[in-house]
Amino acid sequence: MSAIWIQPTGAALGADVHGVDLSRPVDDADFRRILAAWNEHLVLRFSGQRIDDSSLMAFSARFGALDRAPIPAVGFDRTDSALAPEVRDWVAVISNVKRDGKPIGGLGNAELVWHTDMSYNPLPPRASLLYALEVPPDGGNTGFLNMYLAYETLPADLRQAIDGRTCIHDSSRNSAGELRKGFQTTPDIRRTPGAVHPLVRLHPVTGRKALFLGRRPGAYVHGLAVADSEALLDALWAHATQDRFTWYQKWRVGDLVMWDNRCVMHRRDPFDEDRRRLMHRTQIVGEPVLAA
Ligand code: OGA
Ligand code: MN
Repeated sequence: MSAIWIQPTGAALGADVHGVDLSRPVDDADFRRILAAWNEHLVLRFSGQRIDDSSLMAFSARFGALDRAPIPAVGFDRTDSALAPEVRDWVAVISNVKRDGKPIGGLGNAELVWHTDMSYNPLPPRASLLYALEVPPDGGNTGFLNMYLAYETLPADLRQAIDGRTCIHDSSRNSAGELRKGFQTTPDIRRTPGAVHPLVRLHPVTGRKALFLGRRPGAYVHGLAVADSEALLDALWAHATQDRFTWYQKWRVGDLVMWDNRCVMHRRDPFDEDRRRLMHRTQIVGEPVLAA
């Protein structure tokens, strides 16, 4: 009999999955329960794990093909991570740790603003899985936001304003606001590089509609005057980022947290730069974004 037990956080999203050891293959029945829980709760936490990159990749691959790690920011070279060469393309190191003065991972210790992972790509990942190897004593908590709820609770005028509209998702900067390699700052927001996506997307599995925002800096709603786009985006962001739609993860070593990148945004609190935080992340290839 399966030992799996799902415990919802009681907040707008998120659940703990108890009774599963991710260092061993998960059988099909257990996997079906995990998948169902994920569709229901959007973010799952598996605590107390002890896994290496190959187990992280093997479990991740149950949810779909692994996606390549994102383009690193200027000043970070992926070969400086301690990753084995065969996993380097697939595992992203999220860390402020430096070795010989060089960062071993991306995103540092600063705040990360609310965002969807890699939505500046035409096919944003379906999911991200983030595994904690070292965590600071405080700070560095990760917030998650339920974008189904954000859509469902939109005032009618905002819902109407975004009906059928698309938005640019800026590819030039990462969620810490750092410029990526090979990109420049764009003076005209209408020319921001990045994928264009519908503001309301249909989740291909649950069939529910979600607000799809990506990230605020560099965003532009197509077909609107810049000032109107700014005003509309400010109103949407103010609505979407209310505490009542969120749940915060306080990390412990051995936590694996996975989120549905099609209906969840996330952010991170800053933490003390002198404290070590080391996470390994995988991401799953997404399907084409469906307009709702
Ligand atoms: C990410 C991310 C949040 C964190 O890896 O995509 O946003 O808490 N990380 O480090
Ligand atoms: Mn992210």
